[in-house]
Amino acid sequence: MPKITFPENFLWGTATSAYQVEGKNINDWSQWEKAGARMLKIAKAHRNPMDFICGQACDSYHRYTEDFDLAKSLNTNAIRFGIEWSRLQNEKNEWNVEEILHYKTVLKEAQDRGFSVMLCLWHWTIPTWLEREGGWTSREAVAQFEAYVRLIVAEFGGMVDFWLTLNEPLVPAAYGYLAGTFPPGKKLSLRKFWKMKKNLAKAHNAAYDIIHERFPQAMVGHSMLSNAITAEPTNLPARGAAFLARYFANDWFINETKKKCDFLGLQYYKRSRLGGIFPWPQKGNLPRNDMGWELFPEGIYQMIKYWQKFGKPIIVTENGTADAKDSHRAEFIKNHLVQIHRAIKEGAAVLGYFHWSLLDNFEWAYGWGKNFGLFEVDRITFNRKMRESAKVYAEFCRNNGFDHQS
Ligand code: FCB
Repeated sequence: MPKITFPENFLWGTATSAYQVEGKNINDWSQWEKAGARMLKIAKAHRNPMDFICGQACDSYHRYTEDFDLAKSLNTNAIRFGIEWSRLQNEKNEWNVEEILHYKTVLKEAQDRGFSVMLCLWHWTIPTWLEREGGWTSREAVAQFEAYVRLIVAEFGGMVDFWLTLNEPLVPAAYGYLAGTFPPGKKLSLRKFWKMKKNLAKAHNAAYDIIHERFPQAMVGHSMLSNAITAEPTNLPARGAAFLARYFANDWFINETKKKCDFLGLQYYKRSRLGGIFPWPQKGNLPRNDMGWELFPEGIYQMIKYWQKFGKPIIVTENGTADAKDSHRAEFIKNHLVQIHRAIKEGAAVLGYFHWSLLDNFEWAYGWGKNFGLFEVDRITFNRKMRESAKVYAEFCRNNGFDHQS
């Protein structure tokens, strides 16, 4: 059988975020989860409010060495994880020395295992003092973020190989200020949405300079959610809408930051298909995962091709599927890698693939029960158990590819 081989030094990794796995963080999200009105709404929908509390998460704050060993057992050579702003600065203008030491140890443990370390500085959560000041819409947010980045660069900058300043900036901006399903839960607050987007772009650009000042060779980027948006071929309005949607989900932000990116992090999960009389997402007929997301591996190829115009190396910083029964994850990974490889063969500079996620974890507004992990996590004992699909991924990583009949 012909073999698909990835470029030499291709990054094979797994990804997690601080809030979703560490446990016991106190920030805008943890406050939002506990707000009475939200809990009431959940209870009214006959759901258990505790399923929507992150709480102890996966207890990775204490189990990170075990987690790194699990990642290592997959033959990965890279790892992406995050750092929690609210731990380092739980009060304004006050740094928590113990937490600085904690993260130093975490980074050292990752290094000792030979991983290329991708550190994410902001994955949606902010300290509560900043939330009180208006979060990312406040005048001071960018300067505060800069101070946080300066601290990280000074304390453990030398231990980081890839910097992910921001994770999917437009997602919390849109859910927080347009849909109202993320904190601070505002609906159709266009001005604030726009302000948050502006400030996040500024924050990224400033962070890039701060990191490069100290480490001129650093690799700095941010990620974007870049799902496939397709349209019924005969429906012209839907095609127009898809064009615009693609522009706003990708170019709109990247055009503001691309001068200050050494790479771009592409995060891909699914497709949305627009159709109907007024262009609107249609229910497609592709297989779906536990999130109800339509699985469309070819979309990752389409989005890599779309991103080539930005002229930057691409790293797939997230791709994965919610699959509690592990019935399709192995195939999912393979099919997406085939499409990534196809883009590479046609000249795209894709440097690596980070699977979301190493562990089952807290899925934001969906809470517990959406299982994206290569490892299952017991909600009571926190024991981790390898899924069968993880073994398949481990073989791909070991062989830098796999046999594949196209
Ligand atoms: C991405 C998020 C990540 C996780 C996956 C399923 O958009 O960055 O934290 O929730 O979706």
